[in-house]
Amino acid sequence: MDSRSARTALVPFFQGCVKLLALPIYVLSFLGYWDPVCKRIFPYFMSKLSKRYNQKLHKEKELLFSNLESFAGVSGQLSLLEIGTGSGTNFPFYPPCCQVTCTDPNPNFETYLQQSMAENRHLVFERFLVSSGEDLHQVPDSSVDVVVCTLVLCSVHSVPAVLEEVLRVLRRGGAFYFMEHVAADRSSWTYFWQQIYDPTWRYLGDGCSLIRETWKDLENAKFSELKLRRINAPLKWTPTRPHILGYAVK
Ligand SMILES: C[S@@+](CC[C@H](N)C(=O)[O-])C[C@H]1O[C@@H](n2cnc3c(N)ncnc32)[C@H](O)[C@@H]1O
Repeated sequence: MDSRSARTALVPFFQGCVKLLALPIYVLSFLGYWDPVCKRIFPYFMSKLSKRYNQKLHKEKELLFSNLESFAGVSGQLSLLEIGTGSGTNFPFYPPCCQVTCTDPNPNFETYLQQSMAENRHLVFERFLVSSGEDLHQVPDSSVDVVVCTLVLCSVHSVPAVLEEVLRVLRRGGAFYFMEHVAADRSSWTYFWQQIYDPTWRYLGDGCSLIRETWKDLENAKFSELKLRRINAPLKWTPTRPHILGYAVK
């Protein structure tokens, strides 16, 4: 047995240890109490954590969104739809007068979202839709210039279904911007730890998976062009360091 196979064989044992430590959460979930509690407290924790995340990844986000305006429609105004907006941490990176539609399936983010809206008066807020990325039926076909998704594809039920909706609502030539944590290289120690934490992390992170190979879904979706970069985010002691970011054009 080579060292990688030996490591893989140990994963179920360590997963079990982590599950044991988190036993109260598994019990609450079994009784049906965890999900509603998590949906209530997750927005509070995310609003705190995402401030720190934005500080650490400020330069990367600035660079990522630097060419947003080049996708503005003929009117010169940029219409942008954000999937899983959460507390609105991306707003400072959007250009002045950008028309923003926010969507999120968890309405408990609204208080934090309104705070961000008040702090970002350079934007024009159109609507807040309580909807999942897999079903954006309130948004007409080919109606937006840009769709944004950050730290969301790790939590959705179906990445291909979300990307299909993205392609439907984008106008031809419009772009889908993403910044997501993903699975590490399968031969790495980071992947080993990601596998161990993954089942419990899903409970703590409102469905967030550490081991999604999201780049494969992006490559398989029917975008005409995909600009994708990999980085190791400067986040210490977390299994979410491997990131992909970039944009895909319809
Ligand atoms: C880690 S937070 C990221 C929030 C925000 N995009 C950011 O970068 O700070 C994940 C977000 O995805 C949302 N989410 C979860 N499942 C989703 C789905 N199926 N469709 C759209 N958003 C979803 C959650 O409600 C939450 O707002």
